[in-house]
Amino acid sequence: RPRVFSGIQPTADSFHLGNYLGAVRHWVALQETHDAFYCVVDLHAITAGHDPALLRQRTRVAAAQLFAVGLDPERSTLFVQSQVPEHPQLAWVLGCITGFGEASRMTQFKDKSQKQGNERASVGLFTYPILQAADILLYQANAVPVGEDQRQHLELSRDLAQRFNSLFGQTFTVPAPHIVKDTAKITDLQDPTAKMSKSSSSPAGIIDLLEDPARSAKKIRSAVTDTGREIVFDAETKPGVSNLLTIHSALSGRGIDELVAAYAGRGYGDLKKDLAEVVAEFVRPIQERTRTYLDDPAQLDKLLATGAEKARAVAGATLRSAYERVGFFPPV
Ligand code: TYM
Repeated sequence: RPRVFSGIQPTADSFHLGNYLGAVRHWVALQETHDAFYCVVDLHAITAGHDPALLRQRTRVAAAQLFAVGLDPERSTLFVQSQVPEHPQLAWVLGCITGFGEASRMTQFKDKSQKQGNERASVGLFTYPILQAADILLYQANAVPVGEDQRQHLELSRDLAQRFNSLFGQTFTVPAPHIVKDTAKITDLQDPTAKMSKSSSSPAGIIDLLEDPARSAKKIRSAVTDTGREIVFDAETKPGVSNLLTIHSALSGRGIDELVAAYAGRGYGDLKKDLAEVVAEFVRPIQERTRTYLDDPAQLDKLLATGAEKARAVAGATLRSAYERVGFFPPV
């Protein structure tokens, strides 16, 4: 079976619909056909300042949500990044074959460091994509399901795999991005030209999986829609309505064309009201299952420890061969 790897940051109290529709939903689907490794990337989550107790809590909530949306511990290996020390170990080696200019061109770094003030942005924020490459390459992943915003980071992962292989001999599988176009960029409800984002959207622009559905309904009601009154799909001229249609379609399983036909002659209010119901129905069981996992943190931590053990078996073997090729001494 081909291998799949992906990661998600525990930087918020809940995942939002962008995370779910752009990435996590595909994680669940791919565990049927792939050998699947998924990771809560807590090392990545400390690159921009954090609170230790909150980080640990959010790491658990992240894992609980992933199980709750359908990751099956029998079929997927879900683990916490900091429990697998091979990640930063490989990242160091990859950092030494990454150009300073190459890393400087990462747009996510440029955006985030600018927002924080360039002097204050951490070195960890700068080397973030190199750690991400290590995440992926350790598992010899063939495919990496992510949203559109991760495309450039995946390009770097591919370049680093190829570069290492040509410098030191065939070691890493070159990973391909798995980006499903329809939902690869869910947008901010208040600013439908920007992506829905944990770090930069306002709370009104985000729908969280774990928030009260009444709150989501309110946000959907006040979502920015477009001029005109017709419900049609056109991401260019009608980004607001198109985003609502995209979310509806992905959660209800009804095609965009079918929805557009069903809303012919009806107003934005109707679409918003129905979408709020679709969202509520979707999140309710997820919230319930998440709570069940969180009610037994010892059991949850045990599932994650088992995941980390399985992950280490694979990551350790890859790291050993990479170290060997680089010319390091054998492990003692
Ligand atoms: P993160 O935690 O920001 O986001 C997790 C996943 O959600 C996707 N996503 C979206 N998709 C569609 N529309 C949106 N509005 C939206 N917002 C977020 C992201 O593309 C991502 O797939 N660097 C990664 C974490 C990471 C990783 C990895 C991913 C670390 N190591 C190795 C893949 C492989 C990140 O910050 O994702």
